[in-house]
Amino acid sequence: MDLNSILQCPECHGELFIAQNEFNCTVCGRSYRKRVGVYDFLISGEDQWATLGNGFMNGQEEWEKRFLETDEAKLSPSDLLIKAIMLWYKGDFPQFERIMKKAQPAIYTPEYNSAMKSVTDYAIELLQKESGSIVDLASGMGGFLNDLLTVSSRDIISVDISPTSSFGLRQYLSYKGWDNRVVQVVADAAKLPFKDKSIDVITTAVGFQNMQNGMQTFKELRRVSKKLIAVCIFMEEGDPNLAYVSDKTLHVGKYFKKALEKTGWEVSFENEISARVEPTPVSEIMGIRPDKLPVTPTTFKFVDVIATAL
Ligand SMILES: C[S@@+](CC[C@H](N)C(=O)[O-])C[C@H]1O[C@@H](n2cnc3c(N)ncnc32)[C@H](O)[C@@H]1O
Repeated sequence: MDLNSILQCPECHGELFIAQNEFNCTVCGRSYRKRVGVYDFLISGEDQWATLGNGFMNGQEEWEKRFLETDEAKLSPSDLLIKAIMLWYKGDFPQFERIMKKAQPAIYTPEYNSAMKSVTDYAIELLQKESGSIVDLASGMGGFLNDLLTVSSRDIISVDISPTSSFGLRQYLSYKGWDNRVVQVVADAAKLPFKDKSIDVITTAVGFQNMQNGMQTFKELRRVSKKLIAVCIFMEEGDPNLAYVSDKTLHVGKYFKKALEKTGWEVSFENEISARVEPTPVSEIMGIRPDKLPVTPTTFKFVDVIATAL
């Protein structure tokens, strides 16, 4: 995949002078580079690259030891999930996959799991009908990307703001034999290093609900791409859990739609499923909940959002 031909400076949109693994902006002078196989287009975030390889626990050996040494049968579902994530960051992918399979169904309500599967399968079905370039935005640990690569033979561009998870994903893709099918870019969704209308479809699985700035992101996606196929989880207006989010636009369906429309998208919601959800249980080892939301039991709406550039 020739990524170089669609790249530009994410800050000033200037042309890039490309020399091997370095990308220098001919307008603002900023320079970017490819590190450990991943294109780094973060405007800031040098510190995050510095901690690469420290793993999920960032060197907290005491916790790591407890997760590794506690009899697996005695671990609560949340501890199992955290252990699986820890193993992913350590590059122990066979154990990650085995434990994740046990933890995932146990940590969420059956309604949550089935709604999530339905919206994910639906998005993948739609993506298989698309031609042209696909960006998987906010790939994280690559759950959705994994599903997409399994059923389709397409090459994908993966974008995430986190160097740490992108580095982990690089190792995971290599383990799966998919490193040649995915080009990875570290960048902020609100400041992408791509030329205008250079991407055919942007997809994301619950990526938007982990971002901060709806309007700015939607505008940027409209600039670079022609279509969006997004798996989203929304709350009703008045849901007490909205007190814990920074931008309601990304969490309430009708605000989300309005903001997308305002930034030049024609929007439809498909395959809407309401599901009762509970806070994820507290980890006995770390005393935290794996998911920040919900904080109190509620009903989430799982939706496939389809948006076409006007
Ligand atoms: C819950 S994960 C997404 C799950 C993932 N799509 C999957 O299928 O496994 C959320 C991801 O969003 C990424 N993210 C948050 N803000 C972002 C931004 N502004 N631009 C790009 N990625 C972002 C985080 O780094 C994190 O990896």
